[in-house]
Amino acid sequence: MSVLIKNGRIITAASDYIADLYIVGEKIEAIGKDLQYKADKVIDASGKLVFPGGIDPHVHLDMPFMGTYSSDDYETGTRAALHGGTTMVIDFILQTQGDTLHNALKTWQQKSKGKAIGDYSYHMAVTDFNDNTAKEVVQLIDEEGITSFKTFMAYKGALMIDDGQMVQLMKVVKKHGGLVTVHATNGDMIDSLVAKHRAEGKLSPLYHYLSQPEVTEAEASGRFTDMLNYTECPGYIVHMTCEGALNAVRRATFRNQKVFVETCSQYLTLDASLYEKDFEGAKWVMSPPLREKKDQTALWSGINQGLIQVVGTDHCPFKWDQKKMGQGDFSKIPNGHPAIEHRMELMYTEGVRSGKISLNKYVEITSTNAAKIFGMYPRKGGIAIGSDADIVIFDPNKKHQISVKTHHMNVDYSAYEGWELTGKCETILLRGKVAIENGDCHLEPGFGQFIARGKTSLTI
Ligand code: URP
Ligand code: ZN
Ligand code: ZN
Repeated sequence: MSVLIKNGRIITAASDYIADLYIVGEKIEAIGKDLQYKADKVIDASGKLVFPGGIDPHVHLDMPFMGTYSSDDYETGTRAALHGGTTMVIDFILQTQGDTLHNALKTWQQKSKGKAIGDYSYHMAVTDFNDNTAKEVVQLIDEEGITSFKTFMAYKGALMIDDGQMVQLMKVVKKHGGLVTVHATNGDMIDSLVAKHRAEGKLSPLYHYLSQPEVTEAEASGRFTDMLNYTECPGYIVHMTCEGALNAVRRATFRNQKVFVETCSQYLTLDASLYEKDFEGAKWVMSPPLREKKDQTALWSGINQGLIQVVGTDHCPFKWDQKKMGQGDFSKIPNGHPAIEHRMELMYTEGVRSGKISLNKYVEITSTNAAKIFGMYPRKGGIAIGSDADIVIFDPNKKHQISVKTHHMNVDYSAYEGWELTGKCETILLRGKVAIENGDCHLEPGFGQFIARGKTSLTI
C-alpha cells in the first residue's frame, strides 16, 4: 500500500513548508515538491495542515479506580483518540500493592492485545517498592521496553508510596536509564482536608476542589524535584495545574536542574468556577482539580518558556451513573474526565488560533516532545523519512461543535458540551493506513501495536 499526500503545509516542531509526502507501507519514504510517484491512494491536502499524529502520554483505559473502572477500554478509547488526531497513547499499568509488576503487566496486556485500534505503550505505576520490585524495574527497562515509572504522592492506601520508597526507586531507575513520573500532590494534607470537610457536612463537588488547594501540589512538586536532584534521576511531573507547582520547577532550574512537565488540555481551558454547579460539578471532579484563571495564564507562559514540554489529557472517563456514586459525598466521586478525543482540536483553537502558541510549539507539545521524552523519537512524533507514517491532515478553517451526540468516547456526557472549535482533524493515517476519513474509522481492533520504548532523548 502506498499513499501520496499532495501539497500539504507540513508542520513539525522545527519547520513549516509546503510539500508532498510519499508513504510506502508503514513508513514515510519521501518528502519533496511535486513528487511524481504512482501511489495506491492520492490525497489532495491543498489548504490543509499536515502534522505528526498526536501522542497523548497520559490516559487511563479500563482502569480499576475508586470502586469502578474507567469507561473507555482499549477499543473505544483508541478509536476516539484517532478521531481526534491522536495516533498513540501511553496508558498506566497499576501494580496492586503486595503483588508484582509482571502480574500487573500481564493484566494490561490482556486489556490491550487484540483490542487496541491505535498504537499504545505503558507506563508502569509502582505502588509498592521493595527488593523484588527493584529487580522487576530493571527487567521492564531491559526486556519489555517500559522505561517510565509512575509514582503517586497521594491516594494513600491504594497507590501512594512514601519518600523513602521514592528515593530508592529513583536510584534504580537512574542507574538503568529510565524516567520516574509523578502525580505530585501531598496526599496527607489532602486526606486531612477531605476528613475535615466531611465531618463538617460539606459534601458537594466544590469541596473536592477545596480539599486540594494549590499548596498541596506546589509542596509535592518541590519535594519531588528535590528528590530528583538528590538522586540525579530524570523525572517528569504529570498533570501540572498551577502557578505554585510551576514555580517549584522554575526554582529547580536555578540549580541547573531540568524536570520535565506535562499539563493537560483541561487545565489550560477550564477553571474552578465549574465546581459551583452543585452536583453537575462532578463532571469535572478530577485530581488535581481545575484551578484559577491566573493558573491558566501561568501554564500557557510555562509552555512558551519551555518549562512545560507536553500537553496530555489524563483521560479517565466515567459515565454519569458512575459519577453518581459520589452523590452526597464528594470523596466517592470517581476522579477523572473524558478528553482523549478533543486535545488536538482544543489546543489548536485555544492555543494556536487565539495566538497563545505557534504552530511549531503546537506540534512540540502535542506530539514531538512526548516522543522524545518517552524514548520513541524519531520513529514517532515527527515527519521525516523513515518515521512511522502517523499523520494528521487538518482543516484549519472548519468550524464544528463538541457534543456528546457526536463524540466517540464511551461516556454519556461531554465535559465541553457546545464548545465551538475552528480546525478539524480530517484524515488520519496510522502507520501508513488511513484510519479516519469522512468521519469514519477504517481500522479494526487489534491494528494498534504496543510500542516498546527506549531512553529519553530530550536533553536534560
Ligand atoms: O482525576 C484523575 N486524575 N484521575 C485519574 C488518576 C490520576 O490521578 O491521574
Ligand atoms: Zn494523577
Ligand atoms: Zn492520570
